[in-house]
Amino acid sequence: MNSPSSILVTGGAGFIGSTFILDWLRPGAERSPIVNLDKLTYAGNPETLASIETSPLYTFAHGDICDADLVRSLLARHQPRAIVHFAAESHVDRSIVGPDAFLRTNIDGTFTLLQAARAYFQGLEGDKRKQFRFLHVSTDEVFGSLEANDPAFCETTPYSPKSPYAASKAASDHLVRAWAHTYGLPALITNCSNNYGPHQFPEKLIPLVLTYALRGKSLPIYGDGQQVRDWLYVGDHASAIRAVLDRGRLGETYNIGGNNQRSNLEVVLAICALLDELVPKSAYRPHRQLLTYVQDRPGHDRRYAINARKIERELGWRPAESFETGLRKTVQWYLDNTEWVERVTSGAYRDWEQTNYTDRGGARGSARDQMKADPEVTR
Ligand code: NAD
Ligand code: TYD
Repeated sequence: MNSPSSILVTGGAGFIGSTFILDWLRPGAERSPIVNLDKLTYAGNPETLASIETSPLYTFAHGDICDADLVRSLLARHQPRAIVHFAAESHVDRSIVGPDAFLRTNIDGTFTLLQAARAYFQGLEGDKRKQFRFLHVSTDEVFGSLEANDPAFCETTPYSPKSPYAASKAASDHLVRAWAHTYGLPALITNCSNNYGPHQFPEKLIPLVLTYALRGKSLPIYGDGQQVRDWLYVGDHASAIRAVLDRGRLGETYNIGGNNQRSNLEVVLAICALLDELVPKSAYRPHRQLLTYVQDRPGHDRRYAINARKIERELGWRPAESFETGLRKTVQWYLDNTEWVERVTSGAYRDWEQTNYTDRGGARGSARDQMKADPEVTR
Protein backbone atom coordinates (compact mmCIF):
# COMPACT_ATOMS: atom_id res chain seq x y z
CA MET A 1 0.00 0.00 0.00
CA ASN A 2 1.25 3.50 -0.79
CA SER A 3 1.54 6.18 1.88
CA PRO A 4 -1.43 8.50 2.47
CA SER A 5 0.34 11.29 0.62
CA SER A 6 0.03 9.53 -2.72
CA ILE A 7 -2.00 11.04 -5.54
CA LEU A 8 -4.14 9.30 -8.13
CA VAL A 9 -3.73 10.58 -11.67
CA THR A 10 -6.06 9.54 -14.50
CA GLY A 11 -4.87 9.56 -18.12
CA GLY A 12 -1.22 9.80 -17.07
CA ALA A 13 0.03 7.97 -20.16
CA GLY A 14 -1.25 10.77 -22.40
CA PHE A 15 0.50 13.96 -23.45
CA ILE A 16 -0.18 16.27 -20.50
CA GLY A 17 -0.63 13.63 -17.82
CA SER A 18 2.75 12.05 -18.59
CA THR A 19 4.44 15.47 -18.48
CA PHE A 20 2.82 16.06 -15.10
CA ILE A 21 3.97 12.66 -13.75
CA LEU A 22 7.55 13.03 -15.03
CA ASP A 23 7.69 16.47 -13.45
CA TRP A 24 6.19 15.18 -10.17
CA LEU A 25 8.80 12.42 -9.89
CA ARG A 26 11.81 14.32 -11.23
CA PRO A 27 14.87 14.36 -8.97
CA GLY A 28 14.59 17.25 -6.56
CA ALA A 29 10.80 17.48 -6.79
CA GLU A 30 8.37 16.46 -4.04
CA ARG A 31 8.40 12.83 -5.23
CA SER A 32 5.46 11.50 -3.25
CA PRO A 33 3.88 8.32 -4.64
CA ILE A 34 1.76 8.54 -7.74
CA VAL A 35 -0.77 6.05 -9.11
CA ASN A 36 -1.64 6.33 -12.78
CA LEU A 37 -5.00 4.94 -13.96
CA ASP A 38 -4.99 4.82 -17.74
CA LYS A 39 -6.93 2.80 -20.30
CA LEU A 40 -4.13 3.08 -22.86
CA THR A 41 -6.25 4.17 -25.78
CA TYR A 42 -4.41 5.05 -29.00
CA ALA A 43 -3.37 8.29 -27.21
CA GLY A 44 -1.79 6.59 -24.21
CA ASN A 45 1.86 5.63 -24.49
CA PRO A 46 3.44 3.94 -21.46
CA GLU A 47 6.79 4.22 -23.24
CA THR A 48 6.73 7.93 -22.41
CA LEU A 49 6.98 6.94 -18.75
CA ALA A 50 9.72 4.32 -19.22
CA SER A 51 12.23 6.31 -17.15
CA ILE A 52 10.07 6.03 -13.99
CA GLU A 53 8.40 2.68 -14.69
CA THR A 54 10.39 0.83 -12.04
CA SER A 55 10.37 3.63 -9.48
CA PRO A 56 8.95 2.51 -6.13
CA LEU A 57 7.00 5.78 -6.15
CA TYR A 58 5.13 4.90 -9.36
CA THR A 59 2.21 2.50 -9.77
CA PHE A 60 0.49 1.90 -13.07
CA ALA A 61 -3.13 0.70 -13.09
CA HIS A 62 -4.33 -0.31 -16.53
CA GLY A 63 -8.05 0.36 -16.70
CA ASP A 64 -11.02 2.53 -17.55
CA ILE A 65 -12.27 5.46 -15.50
CA CYS A 66 -15.80 4.24 -16.32
CA ASP A 67 -15.10 1.07 -14.28
CA ALA A 68 -16.58 2.07 -10.90
CA ASP A 69 -15.33 -1.04 -9.07
CA LEU A 70 -11.79 -0.47 -10.25
CA VAL A 71 -11.82 3.21 -9.27
CA ARG A 72 -13.27 2.38 -5.84
CA SER A 73 -10.67 -0.30 -5.20
CA LEU A 74 -7.80 1.98 -6.25
CA LEU A 75 -8.99 4.67 -3.86
CA ALA A 76 -9.39 2.16 -1.03
CA ARG A 77 -5.98 0.60 -1.64
CA HIS A 78 -3.88 3.72 -2.21
CA GLN A 79 -5.73 6.25 -0.02
CA PRO A 80 -4.66 9.21 -2.18
CA ARG A 81 -4.67 12.75 -0.89
CA ALA A 82 -5.77 13.99 -4.32
CA ILE A 83 -7.16 12.91 -7.66
CA VAL A 84 -5.84 14.77 -10.69
CA HIS A 85 -8.16 13.95 -13.56
CA PHE A 86 -6.60 14.19 -17.03
CA ALA A 87 -8.18 11.17 -18.73
CA ALA A 88 -10.26 12.18 -21.73
CA GLU A 89 -10.80 11.76 -25.41
CA SER A 90 -9.13 14.96 -26.51
CA HIS A 91 -9.09 15.41 -30.30
CA VAL A 92 -11.76 17.67 -31.83
CA ASP A 93 -11.62 16.07 -35.30
CA ARG A 94 -12.16 12.62 -33.82
CA SER A 95 -15.10 13.96 -31.80
CA ILE A 96 -16.71 15.11 -35.05
CA VAL A 97 -16.25 11.73 -36.74
CA GLY A 98 -17.19 9.64 -33.69
CA PRO A 99 -18.59 11.46 -30.65
CA ASP A 100 -19.62 8.32 -28.72
CA ALA A 101 -16.29 7.69 -27.01
CA PHE A 102 -16.17 11.38 -25.97
CA LEU A 103 -19.51 11.20 -24.19
CA ARG A 104 -18.56 7.94 -22.57
CA THR A 105 -15.11 8.84 -21.23
CA ASN A 106 -15.44 12.58 -20.74
CA ILE A 107 -18.94 12.60 -19.23
CA ASP A 108 -19.69 9.10 -17.89
CA GLY A 109 -16.08 8.59 -16.87
CA THR A 110 -15.97 11.88 -14.94
CA PHE A 111 -19.31 11.01 -13.32
CA THR A 112 -17.93 7.62 -12.24
CA LEU A 113 -14.84 9.23 -10.75
CA LEU A 114 -16.89 11.86 -8.95
CA GLN A 115 -19.15 9.27 -7.36
CA ALA A 116 -16.20 7.18 -6.21
CA ALA A 117 -14.35 10.28 -4.96
CA ARG A 118 -17.42 11.44 -3.08
CA ALA A 119 -17.83 8.10 -1.27
CA TYR A 120 -14.10 8.01 -0.52
CA PHE A 121 -14.11 11.60 0.76
CA GLN A 122 -17.08 10.90 3.02
CA GLY A 123 -15.05 8.20 4.73
CA LEU A 124 -12.04 10.45 5.39
CA GLU A 125 -11.42 12.10 8.74
CA GLY A 126 -9.17 14.75 10.28
CA ASP A 127 -6.19 15.95 8.24
CA LYS A 128 -6.83 13.47 5.46
CA ARG A 129 -10.26 14.99 4.96
CA LYS A 130 -8.91 18.54 5.08
CA GLN A 131 -6.17 17.75 2.58
CA PHE A 132 -8.22 15.92 -0.03
CA ARG A 133 -8.61 17.51 -3.48
CA PHE A 134 -10.29 16.56 -6.75
CA LEU A 135 -8.61 18.52 -9.55
CA HIS A 136 -10.41 18.38 -12.88
CA VAL A 137 -8.26 19.27 -15.90
CA SER A 138 -10.33 20.99 -18.57
CA THR A 139 -10.03 23.16 -21.63
CA ASP A 140 -10.70 26.70 -22.84
CA GLU A 141 -12.82 25.19 -25.63
CA VAL A 142 -15.81 25.04 -23.21
CA PHE A 143 -16.12 28.83 -23.67
CA GLY A 144 -16.75 28.58 -27.40
CA SER A 145 -15.31 30.78 -30.12
CA LEU A 146 -14.14 34.41 -30.02
CA GLU A 147 -14.23 37.04 -32.75
CA ALA A 148 -11.01 38.88 -33.54
CA ASN A 149 -11.58 41.77 -31.11
CA ASP A 150 -13.40 39.97 -28.28
CA PRO A 151 -11.72 39.99 -24.88
CA ALA A 152 -10.00 36.76 -23.84
CA PHE A 153 -11.89 34.09 -21.87
CA CYS A 154 -11.90 34.66 -18.13
CA GLU A 155 -13.26 32.38 -15.42
CA THR A 156 -16.71 34.00 -15.55
CA THR A 157 -17.13 33.80 -19.34
CA PRO A 158 -20.36 31.86 -20.02
CA TYR A 159 -19.95 28.36 -21.41
CA SER A 160 -20.76 28.01 -25.10
CA PRO A 161 -19.12 24.81 -26.37
CA LYS A 162 -19.33 24.24 -30.10
CA SER A 163 -17.74 20.85 -30.89
CA PRO A 164 -18.71 17.44 -29.47
CA TYR A 165 -15.34 17.43 -27.65
CA ALA A 166 -15.96 20.85 -26.11
CA ALA A 167 -19.55 19.94 -25.20
CA SER A 168 -18.41 16.77 -23.45
CA LYS A 169 -15.74 18.67 -21.49
CA ALA A 170 -18.26 21.40 -20.59
CA ALA A 171 -20.63 18.72 -19.31
CA SER A 172 -17.84 17.24 -17.19
CA ASP A 173 -16.99 20.69 -15.74
CA HIS A 174 -20.66 21.18 -14.80
CA LEU A 175 -20.72 17.80 -13.08
CA VAL A 176 -17.61 18.66 -11.07
CA ARG A 177 -19.12 21.99 -9.97
CA ALA A 178 -22.40 20.31 -9.04
CA TRP A 179 -20.57 17.69 -6.95
CA ALA A 180 -18.63 20.45 -5.18
CA HIS A 181 -21.74 22.52 -4.56
CA THR A 182 -24.17 19.75 -3.62
CA TYR A 183 -21.97 17.19 -1.89
CA GLY A 184 -19.15 19.41 -0.69
CA LEU A 185 -16.53 17.56 -2.74
CA PRO A 186 -13.33 19.66 -2.45
CA ALA A 187 -12.92 20.23 -6.17
CA LEU A 188 -10.89 22.57 -8.36
CA ILE A 189 -11.16 23.07 -12.12
CA THR A 190 -8.53 24.29 -14.55
CA ASN A 191 -9.36 25.47 -18.08
CA CYS A 192 -6.25 25.61 -20.20
CA SER A 193 -5.51 26.78 -23.72
CA ASN A 194 -3.87 24.67 -26.47
CA ASN A 195 -0.79 22.80 -25.31
CA TYR A 196 2.27 21.81 -27.31
CA GLY A 197 5.56 20.15 -26.49
CA PRO A 198 7.33 16.77 -26.38
CA HIS A 199 5.28 13.54 -26.46
CA GLN A 200 2.18 15.06 -28.04
CA PHE A 201 0.37 12.56 -30.21
CA PRO A 202 0.98 13.57 -33.84
CA GLU A 203 -2.70 14.01 -34.69
CA LYS A 204 -2.66 17.55 -33.21
CA LEU A 205 -1.56 20.51 -35.32
CA ILE A 206 2.01 21.13 -34.14
CA PRO A 207 3.35 17.55 -34.02
CA LEU A 208 1.38 16.66 -37.15
CA VAL A 209 2.96 19.46 -39.16
CA LEU A 210 6.40 18.71 -37.76
CA THR A 211 6.30 15.02 -38.55
CA TYR A 212 4.74 15.53 -41.98
CA ALA A 213 7.29 18.18 -42.93
CA LEU A 214 10.16 15.87 -41.99
CA ARG A 215 8.79 13.32 -44.46
CA GLY A 216 8.04 15.85 -47.18
CA LYS A 217 4.29 15.34 -46.89
CA SER A 218 2.00 18.26 -47.55
CA LEU A 219 0.95 20.23 -44.50
CA PRO A 220 -2.85 20.41 -44.22
CA ILE A 221 -4.14 23.88 -43.32
CA TYR A 222 -7.86 23.78 -42.58
CA GLY A 223 -9.86 26.56 -44.26
CA ASP A 224 -8.00 29.87 -44.51
CA GLY A 225 -5.52 29.10 -41.70
CA GLN A 226 -6.46 32.30 -39.88
CA GLN A 227 -7.98 30.56 -36.86
CA VAL A 228 -6.24 31.65 -33.68
CA ARG A 229 -5.15 29.50 -30.74
CA ASP A 230 -3.40 30.61 -27.52
CA TRP A 231 -0.43 28.25 -27.17
CA LEU A 232 1.08 27.04 -23.89
CA TYR A 233 4.15 24.83 -23.48
CA VAL A 234 3.09 21.60 -21.77
CA GLY A 235 5.64 21.90 -18.95
CA ASP A 236 4.04 25.20 -18.02
CA HIS A 237 0.63 23.54 -17.88
CA ALA A 238 2.07 20.92 -15.51
CA SER A 239 3.51 23.61 -13.23
CA ALA A 240 0.18 25.46 -13.23
CA ILE A 241 -1.67 22.31 -12.19
CA ARG A 242 0.86 21.85 -9.39
CA ALA A 243 0.21 25.40 -8.22
CA VAL A 244 -3.57 24.91 -8.25
CA LEU A 245 -3.28 21.59 -6.41
CA ASP A 246 -1.00 23.10 -3.76
CA ARG A 247 -2.54 26.52 -3.29
CA GLY A 248 -5.79 26.83 -5.25
CA ARG A 249 -8.89 27.93 -3.36
CA LEU A 250 -11.45 25.15 -3.03
CA GLY A 251 -14.34 25.26 -5.45
CA GLU A 252 -12.53 27.72 -7.71
CA THR A 253 -11.79 27.62 -11.41
CA TYR A 254 -8.44 28.78 -12.79
CA ASN A 255 -7.84 29.67 -16.42
CA ILE A 256 -4.36 28.75 -17.64
CA GLY A 257 -2.73 30.21 -20.73
CA GLY A 258 0.53 31.51 -22.09
CA ASN A 259 -0.66 34.73 -23.75
CA ASN A 260 0.65 33.44 -27.07
CA GLN A 261 -2.09 33.98 -29.61
CA ARG A 262 -1.04 32.83 -33.07
CA SER A 263 -2.93 32.04 -36.24
CA ASN A 264 -2.53 28.48 -37.49
CA LEU A 265 -0.70 29.81 -40.50
CA GLU A 266 1.79 31.66 -38.29
CA VAL A 267 2.37 28.49 -36.27
CA VAL A 268 2.97 26.34 -39.34
CA LEU A 269 5.29 28.89 -40.90
CA ALA A 270 7.26 29.13 -37.63
CA ILE A 271 7.70 25.35 -37.62
CA CYS A 272 8.82 25.41 -41.25
CA ALA A 273 11.38 28.14 -40.51
CA LEU A 274 12.79 26.18 -37.56
CA LEU A 275 13.06 23.04 -39.68
CA ASP A 276 14.84 25.00 -42.43
CA GLU A 277 17.35 26.10 -39.80
CA LEU A 278 17.74 22.84 -37.86
CA VAL A 279 17.68 20.44 -40.83
CA PRO A 280 19.75 22.42 -43.36
CA LYS A 281 20.31 19.37 -45.57
CA SER A 282 16.62 18.50 -45.86
CA ALA A 283 15.45 17.75 -49.40
CA TYR A 284 12.21 19.57 -48.58
CA ARG A 285 13.67 23.02 -47.86
CA PRO A 286 12.11 25.50 -47.82
CA HIS A 287 9.53 23.53 -45.85
CA ARG A 288 6.87 26.19 -46.39
CA GLN A 289 6.49 24.89 -49.95
CA LEU A 290 4.64 21.93 -48.37
CA LEU A 291 1.72 24.05 -47.10
CA THR A 292 -1.61 22.95 -48.57
CA TYR A 293 -5.02 24.40 -47.87
CA VAL A 294 -7.61 21.69 -47.33
CA GLN A 295 -11.31 21.58 -46.56
CA ASP A 296 -12.16 23.23 -43.26
CA ARG A 297 -13.22 21.46 -40.07
CA PRO A 298 -17.03 21.57 -39.68
CA GLY A 299 -18.02 24.19 -37.08
CA HIS A 300 -14.38 25.27 -36.73
CA ASP A 301 -13.92 27.61 -33.73
CA ARG A 302 -12.31 30.82 -34.98
CA ARG A 303 -10.35 32.01 -32.00
CA TYR A 304 -9.47 31.01 -28.44
CA ALA A 305 -7.65 33.28 -26.02
CA ILE A 306 -7.13 32.93 -22.28
CA ASN A 307 -7.00 35.63 -19.65
CA ALA A 308 -4.73 34.00 -17.05
CA ARG A 309 -4.58 36.93 -14.62
CA LYS A 310 -6.39 35.09 -11.80
CA ILE A 311 -3.85 32.28 -11.49
CA GLU A 312 -1.01 34.81 -11.76
CA ARG A 313 -2.50 37.09 -9.12
CA GLU A 314 -3.67 34.45 -6.64
CA LEU A 315 -1.09 31.71 -7.04
CA GLY A 316 1.88 33.55 -8.49
CA TRP A 317 2.03 31.21 -11.49
CA ARG A 318 3.58 32.35 -14.77
CA PRO A 319 4.71 30.37 -17.79
CA ALA A 320 8.45 29.81 -18.04
CA GLU A 321 8.52 29.43 -21.84
CA SER A 322 7.71 31.93 -24.56
CA PHE A 323 6.20 30.54 -27.75
CA GLU A 324 9.56 30.91 -29.48
CA THR A 325 11.60 29.04 -26.83
CA GLY A 326 8.94 26.37 -26.35
CA LEU A 327 8.52 25.76 -30.07
CA ARG A 328 12.27 25.44 -30.60
CA LYS A 329 12.49 22.86 -27.78
CA THR A 330 9.54 21.00 -29.26
CA VAL A 331 10.94 20.87 -32.79
CA GLN A 332 14.29 19.67 -31.42
CA TRP A 333 12.57 16.96 -29.36
CA TYR A 334 10.72 15.60 -32.40
CA LEU A 335 13.94 15.67 -34.41
CA ASP A 336 15.66 13.67 -31.66
CA ASN A 337 12.81 11.20 -31.14
CA THR A 338 11.74 9.98 -34.55
CA GLU A 339 11.46 6.37 -33.25
CA TRP A 340 8.88 7.46 -30.67
CA VAL A 341 6.84 9.01 -33.46
CA GLU A 342 7.22 5.88 -35.63
CA ARG A 343 6.01 3.64 -32.84
CA VAL A 344 3.00 5.69 -31.72
CA THR A 345 1.80 6.33 -35.26
CA SER A 346 1.89 2.77 -36.52
CA GLY A 347 -1.23 0.62 -36.83
CA ALA A 348 -4.62 2.22 -36.18
CA TYR A 349 -3.31 5.77 -36.54
CA ARG A 350 -2.88 5.18 -40.28
CA ASP A 351 -6.63 4.47 -40.51
CA TRP A 352 -7.35 7.75 -38.75
CA GLU A 353 -5.21 9.70 -41.22
CA GLN A 354 -7.16 8.07 -44.02
CA THR A 355 -10.48 8.99 -42.40
CA ASN A 356 -9.60 12.58 -41.55
CA TYR A 357 -7.59 13.69 -44.56
CA THR A 358 -8.60 11.73 -47.64
CA ASP A 359 -11.79 13.67 -48.35
CA ARG A 360 -10.32 17.06 -47.53
CA GLY A 361 -8.59 17.23 -50.87
CA GLY A 362 -5.01 17.31 -49.68
CA ALA A 363 -2.47 16.18 -47.16
CA ARG A 364 -1.92 12.64 -48.41
CA GLY A 365 0.88 11.65 -50.71
CA SER A 366 3.80 13.76 -51.80
CA ALA A 367 3.84 17.51 -51.85
CA ARG A 368 4.12 17.63 -55.60
CA ASP A 369 0.74 15.92 -56.00
CA GLN A 370 -1.06 18.68 -54.15
CA MET A 371 -2.32 22.14 -54.96
CA LYS A 372 0.03 24.43 -53.08
CA ALA A 373 -0.87 27.46 -51.01
CA ASP A 374 1.28 30.53 -51.04
CA PRO A 375 1.37 31.59 -47.41
CA GLU A 376 2.65 35.03 -48.32
CA VAL A 377 -0.49 35.77 -50.31
CA THR A 378 -2.87 34.98 -47.45
CA ARG A 379 -0.89 36.42 -44.60
P1 NAD B 1 -4.31 12.77 -24.61
O1 NAD B 1 -5.37 12.42 -25.61
O2 NAD B 1 -2.90 12.91 -25.05
O3 NAD B 1 -4.30 11.64 -23.46
C1 NAD B 1 -5.47 11.14 -22.87
C2 NAD B 1 -5.07 9.99 -21.95
O4 NAD B 1 -6.28 9.51 -21.33
C3 NAD B 1 -4.47 8.81 -22.70
O5 NAD B 1 -3.36 8.29 -21.99
C4 NAD B 1 -5.60 7.79 -22.76
O6 NAD B 1 -5.14 6.43 -22.79
C5 NAD B 1 -6.33 8.09 -21.44
N1 NAD B 1 -7.74 7.69 -21.48
C6 NAD B 1 -8.65 7.96 -22.46
N2 NAD B 1 -9.84 7.41 -22.13
C7 NAD B 1 -9.68 6.81 -20.92
C8 NAD B 1 -10.56 6.09 -20.05
N3 NAD B 1 -11.83 5.87 -20.38
N4 NAD B 1 -10.06 5.62 -18.88
C9 NAD B 1 -8.75 5.82 -18.55
N5 NAD B 1 -7.88 6.49 -19.33
C10 NAD B 1 -8.34 6.98 -20.50
O7 NAD B 1 -4.84 14.06 -23.88
P2 NAD B 1 -4.02 15.31 -23.36
O8 NAD B 1 -3.75 16.22 -24.48
O9 NAD B 1 -2.90 14.83 -22.51
O10 NAD B 1 -5.13 16.00 -22.45
C11 NAD B 1 -5.25 15.68 -21.07
C12 NAD B 1 -6.40 16.48 -20.47
O11 NAD B 1 -6.13 17.87 -20.63
C13 NAD B 1 -7.74 16.23 -21.13
O12 NAD B 1 -8.73 16.20 -20.13
C14 NAD B 1 -7.94 17.42 -22.06
O13 NAD B 1 -9.30 17.71 -22.23
C15 NAD B 1 -7.23 18.51 -21.27
N6 NAD B 1 -6.66 19.60 -22.08
C16 NAD B 1 -5.86 19.32 -23.17
C17 NAD B 1 -5.31 20.37 -23.88
C18 NAD B 1 -4.40 20.13 -25.08
O14 NAD B 1 -4.02 21.07 -25.77
N7 NAD B 1 -3.98 18.90 -25.34
C19 NAD B 1 -5.56 21.70 -23.51
C20 NAD B 1 -6.38 21.94 -22.40
C21 NAD B 1 -6.91 20.88 -21.68
P1 TYD C 1 -5.71 20.91 -32.90
O1 TYD C 1 -4.27 20.70 -32.64
O2 TYD C 1 -6.53 19.75 -33.36
O3 TYD C 1 -6.32 21.54 -31.56
P2 TYD C 1 -7.79 22.22 -31.30
O4 TYD C 1 -8.71 21.85 -32.39
O5 TYD C 1 -8.16 21.57 -29.99
O6 TYD C 1 -7.55 23.68 -31.18
O7 TYD C 1 -5.87 22.06 -33.96
C1 TYD C 1 -5.30 23.35 -33.74
C2 TYD C 1 -5.73 24.23 -34.88
O8 TYD C 1 -5.12 23.73 -36.08
C3 TYD C 1 -7.23 24.19 -35.14
O9 TYD C 1 -7.66 25.49 -35.54
C4 TYD C 1 -7.38 23.21 -36.30
C5 TYD C 1 -6.09 23.41 -37.08
N1 TYD C 1 -5.61 22.22 -37.81
C6 TYD C 1 -5.26 22.31 -39.14
O10 TYD C 1 -5.35 23.40 -39.76
N2 TYD C 1 -4.81 21.19 -39.79
C7 TYD C 1 -4.70 19.99 -39.17
O11 TYD C 1 -4.32 18.98 -39.82
C8 TYD C 1 -5.04 19.90 -37.77
C9 TYD C 1 -4.94 18.59 -37.05
C10 TYD C 1 -5.49 21.04 -37.14
